[in-house]
Amino acid sequence: MKTKIYENLAELFPLWRETTLGKIGHEKEETNFVIDIFKKYSEKIETIIDLGGGVGLHSELLLKAGYDITLFDQSEKALSIAKKNNPNLKTIHGSFETMDINQEYDAAICMWSTLSYIFSEDGRINFYNWQKTHIKKLIILDEANFYRYDKKFHKIYYGENENYKMKVIRDWELTDKNLKKTKFVYEIFDKKTGKNETIDDAENEQYVEIEKLKEYFGPKWDLEIYGDYNLNCYFNKEESPRIIPVFFKKS
Ligand SMILES: C[S@@+](CC[C@H](N)C(=O)[O-])C[C@H]1O[C@@H](n2cnc3c(N)ncnc32)[C@H](O)[C@@H]1O
Repeated sequence: MKTKIYENLAELFPLWRETTLGKIGHEKEETNFVIDIFKKYSEKIETIIDLGGGVGLHSELLLKAGYDITLFDQSEKALSIAKKNNPNLKTIHGSFETMDINQEYDAAICMWSTLSYIFSEDGRINFYNWQKTHIKKLIILDEANFYRYDKKFHKIYYGENENYKMKVIRDWELTDKNLKKTKFVYEIFDKKTGKNETIDDAENEQYVEIEKLKEYFGPKWDLEIYGDYNLNCYFNKEESPRIIPVFFKKS
């Protein structure tokens, strides 16, 4: 399934992200958390891969903070936007299910439920095996605390930037196997042309249980789990908004 907001509509992704989150520029808080984690768990993190980093919201901030960052994503459109905004950013086009990059990094990040876009067990095994063998120090994963989600959900969101007004209608169903099937309708008003457009979109997400993630990483990795983008918020299944596992290599 090709989700338009990551592909041909990727230039609208930052506004869509802010609209559905109800927060403007939240990637700054998320990136500050990522940097706090780097400092807490490792003496020196220099090279990072941003797995499914999209248009580069975190990559851009990490690049500006002085890190050597590579953005990996399956959307060529998203990568071209990231590269246009940050000509010095390294980008790699590819899919998690088949990724085979012959390069090591100190750390990996995979933000905003992006790990949930793998739908085969073989694909997940490839994704986590690659991380285990190519990441030298630590890995930050991040998914919604799906344990708290209702089986059905409906919400309408409104957002705006200097160029567009956006309305997003979101409906999802969550199966017993933690597969979330979402349908979106976007109503987009272009402030320059005065035109309105209505676009249907959809995505599936396969959330992954913490125990399963531990299995993928095996005994050579330690784990601490945060429940939000804050070093003081440890994960609590009943209350936390996020599941943010940090895997770090045992010394
Ligand atoms: C929800 S967006 C998150 C983007 C970014 N991490 C953020 O927090 O803003 C998911 C991203 O993952 C990418 N993606 C989805 N499935 C993928 C896959 N199987 N392999 C590589 N990238 C994938 C999409 O193209 C999209 O850019």
